[in-house]
Formats: sequence, structure tokens, C-alpha cells
Amino acid sequence: MKKTMITLTTALVVLIFSGAVVAGAVESLRGEQPLTENAKEPAKKQALVVKGGIERSYKQQPPVIPHAIDKDEINLKVNTCLNCHSEKTFEAKKAPKVGDSHFIDRDGKVLKTISSRRYFCEQCHAPQLNADPLVVNNFEGVK
Ligand code: HEC
Ligand code: HEC
Repeated sequence: MKKTMITLTTALVVLIFSGAVVAGAVESLRGEQPLTENAKEPAKKQALVVKGGIERSYKQQPPVIPHAIDKDEINLKVNTCLNCHSEKTFEAKKAPKVGDSHFIDRDGKVLKTISSRRYFCEQCHAPQLNADPLVVNNFEGVK
């Protein structure tokens, strides 16, 4: 009887420890920081600035933003992106004009000014940071 108890206890201890090893192998993006402490502040990343723009992965892709936008603002009163990209300003600012599709309303009518459907630029155009991807990605665009 005593012997079986010892074997059982040993088996239990082994089980608990092997469980701990498996649990240890799963690491969250938070790292080993305990939940009760503030997470380490991630290093600040610089906006990716690419002269001439960033190559598109497929036709009709909204091009990603090749410059910093931390000073830009889009709200009910202002849209600072349009200070450079609108049909009125793009020449003076030497910036690419918004795509022709941005002047078409939901009924297919071509407007003189940018359609309100395209007001929130970052809904489609994403800024880029100079950071390594968190997860390896081998996506290849259509050439
Ligand atoms: C001070 C002027 C200025 C402002 C403000 C500005 N941009 Fe730009 N943007 C540029 C210039 C100039 C380029 C071209 C850069 C190059 O090709 O080297 C550009 C490029 C882009 C492109 C890439 C176009 C392509 O065909 O690859 C996108 C998308 C874009 N901007 C979106 C935005 C958005 C969205 C905002 C607001 C959050 C914004 N920009 C604010 C000047 C500006
Ligand atoms: C609903 C999605 C959407 C929104 C919102 C949007 N865009 Fe676009 N944008 C696109 C797509 C898709 C393209 C590529 C096709 C095209 O040129 O129409 C594009 C193209 C562009 C280009 C490149 C044009 C060229 O001729 O190469 C610029 C610059 C641009 N957008 C700026 C803006 C700005 C600034 C805003 C906000 C005022 C904005 N976009 C809002 C989807 C969007």
C-alpha cells in the first residue's frame, strides 16, 4: 500500500512538472511580465519614409502611406491630408493627387470635389512603421 502511494505521488509530481514545462513554452506577446505589473513600454518606432512611394502588391490596392502622418488630423472640421493631396493643392505641394475613383459618389456620378466616401483616408491608406513584423509573413504581391 505504501509503495503504491509513493508511486502515485511520484506520478503526480511528474505530471505537474511536465504541465509546467508545457505551460512555460507558450509565451504571450507581453513576454514574462506579470499581469500585476505595467507592461514594458515598447520602443518607439519611426515612420517609414520611402521616396517615390511604396510599391503596390496588386492593382487597385490603396497605396500605403510612404511618409509620417503623426501631425495630420482628420475630423469634422479639418482634413490635413487634403492640404497636399486635393485637386486644388497637389500641384503646389508636389504631392500625388488622390485617385480618380475618389471623385465618384455612391451613385456613380463624378463630382468636382472629393466624395465624402473618401474623407477618412486612413480607412484605406495605412501608414507604415520601421518595425520587424511580429509574425513572419511570406505574402508575395502580384507583379
Ligand atoms: C505636406 C504634404 C502632405 C501631407 C499633409 C500628406 N501627404 Fe501624403 N504624400 C505627400 C507627398 C509629397 C507624397 C509623395 C511622396 C513620394 O512619392 O516620395 C505623398 C504620398 C502619399 C501616398 C502614396 C501615393 C502613391 O501612389 O504611392 C499616400 C497614400 C498618401 N500620401 C496619403 C496621405 C494621407 C492619408 C495623409 C493624411 C493622413 C497625407 N498623405 C498627408 C505629401 C503629403
Ligand atoms: C474607400 C477607400 C479609400 C479612401 C477612404 C481613400 N482612398 Fe485613396 N485610394 C484608394 C484606392 C483603392 C486607390 C488606388 C486606386 C485609385 O487610384 O483610385 C487610392 C489611391 C490614392 C492615391 C494615389 C493616386 C494615384 O493616382 O496613384 C492617393 C494619393 C490617395 N489615394 C490619397 C487619398 C487621400 C488623401 C484620402 C483621404 C482624403 C484617400 N485617398 C481616401 C482607396 C481609398
